[in-house]
Amino acid sequence: MRIFIASSNSGKLRELSEAGAAYSVVVHELPGSGSLPVPAESGSTFAENAAIKAVAYSRTVPGEIVIADDSGLEVSALGGAPGIHSARYAQQDNHKSSDAANNQRLLCEIAKYPGAGRSALFVCVIAAARDGKLLGTFEGEARGEILQAPLGRHGFGYDPLFFVPEANKTFAEMQGEEKLRYSHRGAAFRQFCEWLAHHPLS
Ligand code: IMP
Repeated sequence: MRIFIASSNSGKLRELSEAGAAYSVVVHELPGSGSLPVPAESGSTFAENAAIKAVAYSRTVPGEIVIADDSGLEVSALGGAPGIHSARYAQQDNHKSSDAANNQRLLCEIAKYPGAGRSALFVCVIAAARDGKLLGTFEGEARGEILQAPLGRHGFGYDPLFFVPEANKTFAEMQGEEKLRYSHRGAAFRQFCEWLAHHPLS
């Protein structure tokens, strides 16, 4: 089975390719993805934004299944922020900010609520579409704690601050298959694969 993925995030591309390999699904980067028009992520949920991206990009490869991932971090002490704004948490305008700046802002914001605890939830929604039609959305979650300082050098985004008690490690201390076992993206991708296995597409 071959599918295409639309994403400019190299961390997501790497993890979804690795996840595909475990399920005999070959994940290709969308041809010419760097030069395609980027659809506005105008939804108010991860699922809406994932669907917008998958539907729009699926029109560029007729007959093929295209998936898109929308994901982010919800921190309880911050009322669920940064949520769908995770990629641009450190900026006031609408552009994505660097991982380092986002992590720094997260530490500053959470420090304002010392008694509120540091629990957090990573959420990932994978949307699948073909020929401009949404086939389904698949959600995964991962529970953890936000550390006081970064730990680990792998991964991307908020990985160095996200500690998984069950594994006694941050996401940035995990590699490949280990992160997928615990992660929101791994959980969402497994659901997508389950769905694919039970819905043979003509
Ligand atoms: P999106 O492209 O709008 O889905 O941006 C998702 C953002 O959430 C990323 O840029 C990261 O900041 C964050 N994020 C999502 N998944 C992960 C992950 O697995 N590790 C670390 N950060 C993540």
